[in-house]
Amino acid sequence: MRHLIDINDLSIEEIDRLIAVADDIIADPQKYAEVCHGKKLATLFFEPSTRTRLSFEAAMMELGGNVLGFSSADSSSSAKGESVSDTIRVVSYYADVIAMRHPKEGAPRVASAVSDVPVINAGDGGHNHPTQTLTDLLTIHREKGRLSDMTVGLCGDLMFGRTVHSLISAMSRYENVKFILISPPELRVPDYITQTVLKRRGCEYEVAESLDSSMEKLDILYMTRIQRERFFNEADYLRLKDTYILDTDKMALGKPDLSVMHPLPRVNEIDTAVDADPRAAYFRQAKYGKYIRMALILMLLGKEI
Ligand code: CP
Repeated sequence: MRHLIDINDLSIEEIDRLIAVADDIIADPQKYAEVCHGKKLATLFFEPSTRTRLSFEAAMMELGGNVLGFSSADSSSSAKGESVSDTIRVVSYYADVIAMRHPKEGAPRVASAVSDVPVINAGDGGHNHPTQTLTDLLTIHREKGRLSDMTVGLCGDLMFGRTVHSLISAMSRYENVKFILISPPELRVPDYITQTVLKRRGCEYEVAESLDSSMEKLDILYMTRIQRERFFNEADYLRLKDTYILDTDKMALGKPDLSVMHPLPRVNEIDTAVDADPRAAYFRQAKYGKYIRMALILMLLGKEI
């Protein structure tokens, strides 16, 4: 039995295979329409979500399976004090695979230790978000035709942005990927990312504060939201929230084949005028999330075609 808690749980070959299966699903969804007939996915979301929960549920439905679950801690027995371990132990009697989001870092790892069925980390606090990373990798592959030989700029809240941590972990395993880490000093990537991922893997990276001066170097610009819910005080959030706003003037500084990505939700960091630019890939990215999650469910249930 396999779980997906961290993107490093998957080999590069497995990631490439998931991307190939997702591409095949996009090309011929009908072929997969009944593959998970009789199977159930539980979505246990102790934190809010639109894309991750609903794309997981749509993914299972489009594979012919069923879904059950809850969308907030308040509507589960965790509100009565039940532990994550007890919840998972019980739900693993009712479902064949579990996708779980939790505000506490490491909660999905705890869940995987007691579950009778595969557990998928759908985001744990400010730590990791491996299925967003699979979505991001599918998007980059479809936009660029490759996952190597490129400069990736990550901009915004690199401290608390779990999608950023997982994406750096994944992209640093591909050849000749350079990172430009654009953030205010207070929101730089955690040391464990620079020390144990970027330095240990010998990746080239730059730390920057200016988005404008980085734009012309980028093949991918990965914008992120300043994460209000992770701040310890409101004053810091208010001071930092509008540090970066990508607008059409900044887009004019980018390469003609730049791809702009964002895990969404967006608040104010990308002007809606940018949406009409063909280089804005973030809504295509959200769409691809369903297909890569279909591929992942197939893999974890041993149903690969
Ligand atoms: N990208 C992402 O995780 O979005 P949701 O919080 O809406 O699931």
